[in-house]
Amino acid sequence: MRSLVIGPLLTALAVGTALAVYPSQTITFAGGEAGPVAFSGRDHGQPCSRCHNQQTFPLMQQGEVTITMAAIDKGRLCGSCHNGRQAFASPNNCQRCHQSQ
Ligand code: HEC
Ligand code: HEC
Ligand code: HEC
Repeated sequence: MRSLVIGPLLTALAVGTALAVYPSQTITFAGGEAGPVAFSGRDHGQPCSRCHNQQTFPLMQQGEVTITMAAIDKGRLCGSCHNGRQAFASPNNCQRCHQSQ
């Protein structure tokens, strides 16, 4: 009886955690010579599919996509929002992402 109850409960917890991890999490990118970039789920409450789609960050796994400033400045990846319209653009805002700058 116990295991019948606990099994589904653990499964529910595992699924719940997988989906809940990201918004409460911060992942850090090395950022080359400009220094680390902390990407916080709390600052990014958009629907998952806004970023996790074929054009942007297909997999929910850090390191799957190589992010470059060239791509961001062309309006791709982070730059699909950080373009001065949906969110602050990269020029003059280096330190908002590269916090050690
Ligand atoms: C504003 C963009 C954005 C949104 C919205 C977003 N993510 Fe992500 N997520 C990312 C980026 C960027 C990465 C790292 C991808 C890479 O490095 O290739 C990532 C990585 C992840 C990872 C892996 C984290 C790790 O430690 O490796 C998980 C899990 C994840 N996202 C889940 C979600 C879920 C669930 C949602 C919706 C609730 C969501 N994400 C919404 C941008 C976003
Ligand atoms: C919207 C956030 C954001 C802003 C604003 C931003 N960067 Fe970045 N930058 C990143 C991310 C993310 C990476 C990739 C980090 C990684 O994968 O290690 C990166 C990488 C870099 C790199 C190393 C790789 C490459 O492509 O050259 C340099 C140098 C860099 N940024 C400089 C700058 C400078 C200078 C500015 C301001 C003019 C700036 N960044 C503004 C997010 C940002
Ligand atoms: C779906 C749109 C979207 C994408 C994609 C996106 N961001 Fe953002 N980001 C925002 C919005 C909106 C804010 C809130 C700040 C604002 O209004 O300009 C924000 C805030 C931030 C902040 C907080 C800065 C501060 O001073 O409070 C950082 C850091 C940041 N983003 C980095 C990134 C990085 C790095 C990426 C790519 C891995 C990324 N963002 C991708 C929309 C996005």
